[in-house]
Amino acid sequence: MTLPDGVERRTFGGDDRLATKGHPVYGEPTDGDWRCWDARRSKLAAMLEHGMDTGLDGGETVLYLGAASGTTVSHVADFSGPTYAVEFAPRPTRDLLDAVDARENLFPLLKDARKPETYAHVVESDVEVLVQDVATRGQARVACENARFLREDGRLLLAIKARSEDVASDPETVFERALDTLREGYEIIETRRLEPFHVDHLGVVAVPRKV
Ligand SMILES: C[S@@+](CC[C@H](N)C(=O)[O-])C[C@H]1O[C@@H](n2cnc3c(N)ncnc32)[C@H](O)[C@@H]1O
Repeated sequence: MTLPDGVERRTFGGDDRLATKGHPVYGEPTDGDWRCWDARRSKLAAMLEHGMDTGLDGGETVLYLGAASGTTVSHVADFSGPTYAVEFAPRPTRDLLDAVDARENLFPLLKDARKPETYAHVVESDVEVLVQDVATRGQARVACENARFLREDGRLLLAIKARSEDVASDPETVFERALDTLREGYEIIETRRLEPFHVDHLGVVAVPRKV
């Protein structure tokens, strides 16, 4: 598996885990300056654990949708360049500010990812990586609406939660429907179920569709 610069495998409590270097955020185990990045708490870490072709080198400009209280986005900011973190719920955004305080390259945006025009004046338009984990209905549509920020050679790293779309249907059917929508804006490079780390989630790597 190729890991981005700034992400390493280290041993925590006898287990081999991903780690990034940075200020601890949520009580995660540490080893000197390194903080454990647990794939069970992060869909992006699960995608890396599965060896998905994320294309991450480290140092990229990132737009992260669904930042919550900063668990994953704080790790992303540890190995990336400017990192814009969009979250629409005020409560987790307050906690996210603790991660922001210790990171000069992490910019929180209390915004709705379904309304990209509300943060288009802040976010650079040549984002190299769009990471999305919003876990709400219409996840593929959100990714399409935010494709405007991605460079031509940029990448989408998306986690789709089946139950957020439809609790009654078979997850595979839900994923196929979401991928059909996603193809309106992207060419899909790779998909992979994120078990055993996350049940009924699909990891997707995609690039903007050429027009
Ligand atoms: C599964 S949690 C994200 C966990 C986070 N990505 C992590 O790994 O640390 C999904 C988050 O997306 C947020 N969210 C859902 N819909 C959103 C939207 N339209 N705009 C912004 N945030 C949204 C939710 O409030 C929630 O905090």
